[in-house]
Amino acid sequence: MPETLGATAAETLLQTRGLSVHYGGVTANADIDLTVATGEIVGLIGPNGAGKTTFVDAVTGFARSTGEVVLGGRRVDRAAPHRRRNAGMARTWQAGELFADLTVAQNLAVAVQRVGLRALFSDVFTGSTPPAGVVEQALEVVGLLDVADRLPGELTLGQQKLVGVARALVGGTRLVLLDEPAAGLDTHESHEFGAELRKIAATGIGILLIDHDMSLVLDVCDRLYVLDFGRVIADGTPAAIRDDPAVVAAYLGSPEVEADPEDLTPTSPTAPDSSGEDAR
Ligand SMILES: Nc1ncnc2c1ncn2[C@@H]1O[C@H](COP(=O)(O)OP(=O)(O)O)[C@@H](O)[C@H]1O
Ligand SMILES: [Mg+2]
Repeated sequence: MPETLGATAAETLLQTRGLSVHYGGVTANADIDLTVATGEIVGLIGPNGAGKTTFVDAVTGFARSTGEVVLGGRRVDRAAPHRRRNAGMARTWQAGELFADLTVAQNLAVAVQRVGLRALFSDVFTGSTPPAGVVEQALEVVGLLDVADRLPGELTLGQQKLVGVARALVGGTRLVLLDEPAAGLDTHESHEFGAELRKIAATGIGILLIDHDMSLVLDVCDRLYVLDFGRVIADGTPAAIRDDPAVVAAYLGSPEVEADPEDLTPTSPTAPDSSGEDAR
C-alpha cells in the first residue's frame, strides 16, 4: 500500500512562496504564498480571470513562474511537469476528457501508463503491485469500484466527475489540484461529490479545490484562499471568508455573481470559465 494512503499526522505537503506568473503585461499570479497540508482540503476561489487556473498551471509546471514551489519539503519549481507528477502531485483539467469508449478502469489504466511507465514495469517485473491493484485502489477511494467495467456514458455525471478525480489519484499521488471538478453538477450531486472529496482527504491526500459553487467550497474546505487580480486578498476558514468585506467586495465587482453579500452563490454556477481552458 502506498504511503500516500496511510493516515499520518498532518504536515505541510505543498508550500508556495512568492509564486508569480506574468503573461506579457498581465500579472496572472502575484506573490502567492499558499500551503496545503496532508489530509487537508484547501479552496482557491475568486472571480473569473483571477488567476486560479494559472496557479494550478504554475504549481504543476505548465506555466512559467517565479518563486518557490515546495512539495513534501523538496523544491520542485524547476522540475518539468512529469517530474512533479512523479513526485506526487496531480491535477485535473476541465471536465469532459474521459475516453468514452474505454471502461472506467481502462480510463485510469491509461493514466497510469502515461505517468508512470517505469514504475509500472518495475511493478510488473517484481510482481509486487499489479497495475490492476493501483487502479482498483483509486476507484475504491472515490467509491466507484463497482462501476469499474462500465463505460463513462453509463454513469451519472457526478460519477463521471469522480472518475476524473480518481484518474489523478493513481500512481502515488499525495497532492491533487482540482480545477472546477464539480462544474455542471446540481446542488445535490455537488454535495455528494464534496462528501467523496472528504473521504479522499481522510486517506491523507492533500486537495486544492477550485470551484465556483460557493456552497460546495464553504462546506467542504478546511481553509480557503481568495484570489483577485492574481493576488491573495483573503485566506482563512470558511466562516471567516464568508464574512470578509474584501471577499464580498471582490465578488460584488464580478458580473458572474449575485449582488447579495449574504449569498455568494454565482448566478450561473455551471458556466465554464471564459479563460479558454477547454482548449488546453
Ligand atoms: N496562456 C495564457 N496566456 C496569456 N494570458 C493568460 C493565459 N492563461 C491565462 N491568462 C490570463 O491570466 C489571467 C488569469 O487567468 P486564469 O488563471 O485562467 O483565471 P481563472 O482560472 O481564475 O478564471 C487572465 O487575465 C487570463 O486572461
Ligand atoms: Mg480557471
